[in-house]
Amino acid sequence: MSRTIVVTGIAGQDGSYLTELCLNYGFKVHGFVRRTSSLKRERLDSFSQRYISEGNLQLHYVDLCDTFSIHQLLLKIQPSFIFNLAAQSHVGISFDLPRETIQSTGLGILSLLEAVRHLDSEVTIYQAGSSEMFGGMLGRSELNESSGFFPKSPYGAAKVLAHNLGILYRDGYGMDIRNGILFNHESPRRGENFVSRKITLSAARIHYGIQRKVALGNLEARRDWGHAKDYVEAMLKIVLHKEADDFVIATGQMYTVSDFAEKVFNKLNLNYRDYVEKDERLFRPNEVDDLLGDARKAHEILGWSSQTTFDELIEDMLESDLKLVRDSI
Ligand code: GDD
Repeated sequence: MSRTIVVTGIAGQDGSYLTELCLNYGFKVHGFVRRTSSLKRERLDSFSQRYISEGNLQLHYVDLCDTFSIHQLLLKIQPSFIFNLAAQSHVGISFDLPRETIQSTGLGILSLLEAVRHLDSEVTIYQAGSSEMFGGMLGRSELNESSGFFPKSPYGAAKVLAHNLGILYRDGYGMDIRNGILFNHESPRRGENFVSRKITLSAARIHYGIQRKVALGNLEARRDWGHAKDYVEAMLKIVLHKEADDFVIATGQMYTVSDFAEKVFNKLNLNYRDYVEKDERLFRPNEVDDLLGDARKAHEILGWSSQTTFDELIEDMLESDLKLVRDSI
């Protein structure tokens, strides 16, 4: 087994944490990136230069629809593991960009599966599944690996497609495909249009007097929020496990969006009700009200459990945004 991995979506929150983790464990990492006009990849820039100059980290421009080019590249790289993290990952935006979301989030894995199917070597593929595939609790108790999928967004439907393609290739061709079904996971590297980061960044700006209010949509939605650093450890454990299997990764605790806002503003001695405005335009056409996960299988088989509490997660994100805003003034 080579200690070489491929990460699609390496420039995202999860891709960057997973890359740091794997480099620390001595893996060589090949990141697949989309071409953009900017060469800046902020989440990678803090650590990547050293590893690039040592030859342990390499970035490649890849079109995830192009099976032939991916096959040729994999022949050269000879990875043991591929983590498929590339996606249009915003649920709300998927209603505006349904086709693009199905293409990138749903079908991206297909080229990888086909490219790997025609390789001679054994490669393990990790597919980044999402709790959004469940479509909510729908009267059920904590969601686990046996709970059915009832997606409520183009994003959720695309993730179900990718998940099912993985299982199809595992059952049909005996390929080593593993699905992680991850509940929400946040961090200081979270994109600014996800609700957790939108709240911590806005609160930091309000604290320093450069923003007055923050508009939010559904304040009653409840999510099971963990820290992305803990969740990439689960990804690595899933691919290193001796057999191909699927795992739910979650904290088992659920809070409302307003709980999140209340805690953030409390830490700044502010009352969130004075700053949060409800904006109906930020509601989605089809809301997923509640998501609560049961990660007992990952705990029992992989020895994984979430290490960061809800309070610690908020503390980490808020500290980072306070510094970011302070440094920008
Ligand atoms: N983004 C956003 N912005 N969400 C808001 C806002 C707002 O202003 N106001 C309320 N919300 C609500 C959303 O309606 C949703 O119910 C909840 O806050 C969380 O929204 P997001 O942070 O956008 O995350 P998500 O749950 O839709 O999706 C995330 O988690 C999935 C796992 O379940 C994303 O990371 C997905 O990529 C991931 O698969």
